[in-house]
Amino acid sequence: MTRQPITQTPPSAPLGDALPAELLDTGERLSRAQLRETQLERLQATLRHAYDNVELYRRKFDAAGVKPEDCRTLADLARFPFTTKADLRDTYPFGMFAVPMDQVRRVHASSGTTGRPTVVGYTEHDLSVWADVVARSIRAAGGRPGHKVHISYGYGLFTGGLGAHYGAERAGCTVIPASGGMTARQVQIIQDFRPEIIMVTPSYMLTLLDEFERQGIDPRTSSLRIGIFGAEPWTEAMRSEIQDRLAIHAVDIYGLSEVMGPGVAQECVETKDGLHVWEDHFYPEIVDPLSDDVLPNGEHGELVFTSLTKEALPIIRYRTRDLTRLLPGTARPAFRRMEKVTGRCDDMIILRGVNVFPSQIEEIVLGTPGVAPHFQVELTRRGRMDHMTLHVEARPTTGGEAREAAARSIATAVKDGVGVNIEVLIVEPETLGRSLGKIQRVKDLRQQ
Ligand code: DLL
Repeated sequence: MTRQPITQTPPSAPLGDALPAELLDTGERLSRAQLRETQLERLQATLRHAYDNVELYRRKFDAAGVKPEDCRTLADLARFPFTTKADLRDTYPFGMFAVPMDQVRRVHASSGTTGRPTVVGYTEHDLSVWADVVARSIRAAGGRPGHKVHISYGYGLFTGGLGAHYGAERAGCTVIPASGGMTARQVQIIQDFRPEIIMVTPSYMLTLLDEFERQGIDPRTSSLRIGIFGAEPWTEAMRSEIQDRLAIHAVDIYGLSEVMGPGVAQECVETKDGLHVWEDHFYPEIVDPLSDDVLPNGEHGELVFTSLTKEALPIIRYRTRDLTRLLPGTARPAFRRMEKVTGRCDDMIILRGVNVFPSQIEEIVLGTPGVAPHFQVELTRRGRMDHMTLHVEARPTTGGEAREAAARSIATAVKDGVGVNIEVLIVEPETLGRSLGKIQRVKDLRQQ
């Protein structure tokens, strides 16, 4: 297991080491065989709980001709029907809850881009499991009791803020509940309170980094040593950008509200090689998004999750729309890893027949000298053809000729690497919108 050094670790940061064995929790100590046994028991109980208490599951299982007792092995799960976001919308707000409302201690909701939000609920036990998996994630990221954790994920109906919050407390850390927004004040608080860890979306981290520099502070001199970034796709190029500008270990945290919130999977700091799925609570499958067939480990497809311990909202074979693949565990050998999610089925742009992911554009922009890591993709119609314009901010020191060279270099890299012709416009520094949470990189004006 190799430990990846950050470019320039400040002397005060002996971090990035593997978790000492005595700090592993009970779930993390299971062997792969014990884990699979636990998974099967929990899966059978979850299917029974869902079938007995949620009308939608009863209807769907009956229509598919399966009963909870038909699940005798983990592979039998493939016989059960999928659940989609539409199922949660159709039963809005509480129709998929499997416990009486007086046992639901909290609800969260995810806004989505259209229509009704999807609402999720948690019993006291669910909240405790959630805090446990986030605490486990923070330890895997290198966090230890006594660290201060600055949380800039939004607090509220979004699961990011409160999910991170209770996990950090459970990990024995001191929480600074900053939430999103008020960027100048966030920098001030980081300077004054000296947290070791920040939990934030990678795009808002960029906004914070710009603010550090605007205030004349070199971000590398800050107290931050670990960044736990998630809630949106981000690339290896973005990891390098953030690690270099901030001198921290940047690791990935994944989750979604329908399954729990943040803390479904986490990258370990000593390997930074994808995210270990906390499989004792969330059972992953990869399916072919078109045929719906379950794919073997190692193959790319859509990630599907079944909860194994949830009470208020058991979720069976939930179609995440996130694209990745499953690999064997490394730093936590019993748990499978998921490769970094760099795209969703629904943020794939089809431009004149070619599939383009915003993450491919991100890799190219961040690898181009002279431009800032801020960009926006705009899709329009020109006649009967789709047209993509990529707006990228120049760095303040980049002059006219260098800007033209950057535009040419990006357009060529997109043509060569992705296979489409696009228009690249280099715009003035600080003119594109900044992220305050999850960033929306694509503006689709094709229907207008
Ligand atoms: O974003 C939960 C979360 C909060 C995760 C804070 C990590 C940190 P939702 O709002 O329901 O929940 O959005 C879930 O966000 O299906 C992915 O498409 C995307 N996503 C979340 N984490 C990652 C990640 C939260 N690490 C949706 N990499 C998911 C890529 C991510 N995409």
